[in-house]
Amino acid sequence: MSSAPTILLTGATGYIASHTWLALLAAGFEVVGVDDFSNSSPEVLNRLAKLAGSAPVFEAADVCDRETMLAVFARHQPDAVVHFAAYKAVGESTAKPLDYYRNNVGGLVNICEVMLRNGCRRMVFSSSATVYGVPESLPLREDAALSAVNPYGQTKLIGETILRDLGAADTAWQTACLRYFNPVGAHESGSIGEDPRGTPNNLMPYVAQVAVGRRPRLSVFGGDYPTPDGTGVRDYIHVVDLAEGHVAALRFLLGGKESITCNLGTGRGYSVLDLVKAYEKASGKPVPYDIVPRRPGDVAACYADPALARERLGWEAHHDLDRMCADSWRWQSMNPLGFEAS
Ligand code: WQD
Repeated sequence: MSSAPTILLTGATGYIASHTWLALLAAGFEVVGVDDFSNSSPEVLNRLAKLAGSAPVFEAADVCDRETMLAVFARHQPDAVVHFAAYKAVGESTAKPLDYYRNNVGGLVNICEVMLRNGCRRMVFSSSATVYGVPESLPLREDAALSAVNPYGQTKLIGETILRDLGAADTAWQTACLRYFNPVGAHESGSIGEDPRGTPNNLMPYVAQVAVGRRPRLSVFGGDYPTPDGTGVRDYIHVVDLAEGHVAALRFLLGGKESITCNLGTGRGYSVLDLVKAYEKASGKPVPYDIVPRRPGDVAACYADPALARERLGWEAHHDLDRMCADSWRWQSMNPLGFEAS
């Protein structure tokens, strides 16, 4: 019988969760993954089995389904939950706000109630830098003003508020809200990575699909921002560094009595054209692009002050932009059509 803590991951076959799954196993945790495959592929489980050298413990379930989740908790009795499951496309959230509130907010409330029924009161919550809205100053510290500029961001802001209110009502709750900046890259094996359905909303997967020949050209949304080269600046963070941030957050919760909200970013901003150049170098492939009008809702620049996570979690990012692009390219070139082609 293992004495290692059991961690339940929701949205477990998704991009960040699958990388976190591997990091948790490597750190000696027991892991149970839950997903309904609404935005991921079952093939991820086969890849994880090969990478981890053991069959992943997995339950197919919708986090909004109370009865199924109660049965999952009864079977596995997790010591903590990492709640990744959420829809995350900003544009889609504007078109379908109810889907986002039902799934992202309703799903969180359901998970918290199921946790409470099973005496589990530790959660790492997948939040986002989008809760900062339009930054008033940079780099962004955790005490910066918060505002939501789209329904997706609103669901993350509401999620953080729910967890804060829960902790105020019952001090036995311990939560870690992790505000991701821009997750990119892939596991060094090239076996798992980012595999968006349809047209990628985010920059790195779109660039990867141009480099591998799935798409002809990149549209650069805006060349007239007040940034060094006029294109948008973001804090890109390697998904493996992000996964390690979750391990550090769990150790923080399991080792003490406090809750925390912190940025997971590198503290360094790169422009769209910086990333395109780095990707061409990493892949050896051209990434032709056109500068087109700005995308509504985009901010000029956004990057983190990562000091709090360093001081309180003992975590910081290590992978640089070249490594992010090299690992992304290995994944994309080994899986030109993503998981579904397996
Ligand atoms: C990055 C930069 C674009 C695509 C979003 C969400 C955020 C988080 C990460 C979930 C910007 C430019 C992009 C393209 C481009 N998601 N771009 N051409 O918008 O910073 O953040 O994803 O948590 O919540 O808001 O990321 O990758 O979409 O854009 O020029 O085809 O690349 O304008 O400057 P973003 P992104």
